[in-house]
Amino acid sequence: SPKAIVSPSVLASNFADLGNEIRRMMHCGAEWVHMDVMDGHFVPNITMGAPVLASVHKTVDNVFMDCHMMVADPKRWVKPVAEAGGKSYTFHIEALSDPENAHEIVDLIHSTGMRAAVAISPDTPSSAISDRLGNSVDMLLVMTVVPGAGGQKFMQRCVPKVAELRARFPQKDIQVDGGVGPGTVGCCARAGSNVIVAGTALFGAEKPADVIADFKQQIDSSKE
Ligand code: DX5
Ligand code: ZN
Repeated sequence: SPKAIVSPSVLASNFADLGNEIRRMMHCGAEWVHMDVMDGHFVPNITMGAPVLASVHKTVDNVFMDCHMMVADPKRWVKPVAEAGGKSYTFHIEALSDPENAHEIVDLIHSTGMRAAVAISPDTPSSAISDRLGNSVDMLLVMTVVPGAGGQKFMQRCVPKVAELRARFPQKDIQVDGGVGPGTVGCCARAGSNVIVAGTALFGAEKPADVIADFKQQIDSSKE
């Protein structure tokens, strides 16, 4: 399966010092930075939008913004996020009025040069991702908490979906997001996840570099 990637969720960072918080995580070995965009409609909270992404892009050299779009109208933000420097764009299948037309947003995302990813919330089965959709995206995101807030408890019952998707899509990146830390990353890795999002476990750590190294080691050793 694909290579291990760690994507710290900025939701657990100090937003007033976002540029430095992101640089700190990149310095600790994070390949990506997970930008949780919430619009107050798809989820109750509001976090940030394209203007903040653009500032990060301008301020942090070589930042790879992995944009998790918890928004009611995911198509609407594809171009603004691409123009703001987003590198990967994750939409929720639950946000599409007609999931049969998911290829339209995937094509739109790809037309901007960004990577495309589709997310499923805890109550959405892996079967909601058709073979066609799964094969058209670069990454699948299995949420391991209900989207909307950081610091929630990891939901073990979501892990089998990772294994189901890994079996169907052996070459794709599979991301897990929500409550992931040193104690829960192992089961995700064994199920086939290779892209780890963590907020609290990284921004709250005394030595984030050690936690990031541990995540990657647990992913790599689960492949053997
Ligand atoms: C939840 C977000 C996650 C979350 C991760 O809505 O999508 O990215 O902030 O944070 P932790 O790791 O603290 O659960
Ligand atoms: Zn997220």
